[in-house]
Amino acid sequence: MIKLAINVDHVATLRQARGNSEPDPVTAAALSELAGAVGIVVHLREDRRHIQDRDIKILRDTIQTKMNLEMAATDEIIQIALDTKPDMITLVPEKRQELTTEGGLDVITNKIKIKDCIDRMTAANIPVSLFIDPDSAQIRASKEIGATFIEIHTGRYADATSEEEEDKEFDLIAAAAEEAYEEGLRVNAGHGLNYVNVSRIAALDTIEELSIGHSVMARAIFVGLTQAVQEMKELIQTASR
Ligand code: PXP
Repeated sequence: MIKLAINVDHVATLRQARGNSEPDPVTAAALSELAGAVGIVVHLREDRRHIQDRDIKILRDTIQTKMNLEMAATDEIIQIALDTKPDMITLVPEKRQELTTEGGLDVITNKIKIKDCIDRMTAANIPVSLFIDPDSAQIRASKEIGATFIEIHTGRYADATSEEEEDKEFDLIAAAAEEAYEEGLRVNAGHGLNYVNVSRIAALDTIEELSIGHSVMARAIFVGLTQAVQEMKELIQTASR
């Protein structure tokens, strides 16, 4: 059964729009867990545009399931991860001008830097996931430098504008998940998944966990966070039965 991890960054985005203390991503994390999420994901960006250092500290103490810290492999953030000791980290590329994470890591080009980060995390017993596009060469490079997980970027599948394009992107994800699984990597997936497009991905039995933020928080505005998480979990469970 595929697991659901909820990304609470968007709650922090709303808080930062006013610069005060509400809504609190810590509350969102607790409610998501109560509604059935089995992991909480937060991205501490270098520019601190949403999640703040304070959130990371409190979440480390309050998350009951699993804390997955999304981050770039920079010295400052690596040190914060080593101090915080999340249950796992997910390395993502980070560009200051982007609205959200725009694509997978180029593990091949950045092999030395990423391997160094993996080695430091491994020494601290923190498993590392690499957020990559569904690409065979990136999967092989991830395996070679010692990643425990990959997270397959589903953004292009989610953004497809025709059935044909969606099918093509889905096939790439399915093949990549299969290849990584056969290589012995643990496979997560995420980005852009919503109540319409999630079922196909959730039916892939090579995938362990889906990381979903935007669509759940968008629905939560209208139906409440508990219902939004429960509905997503139900869709995933139905598809992966
Ligand atoms: N996985 C990664 C690596 C991400 O960067 C994000 C976005 O923060 C997600 C999953 C979740 O994407 P979405 O908010 O579109 O569900």
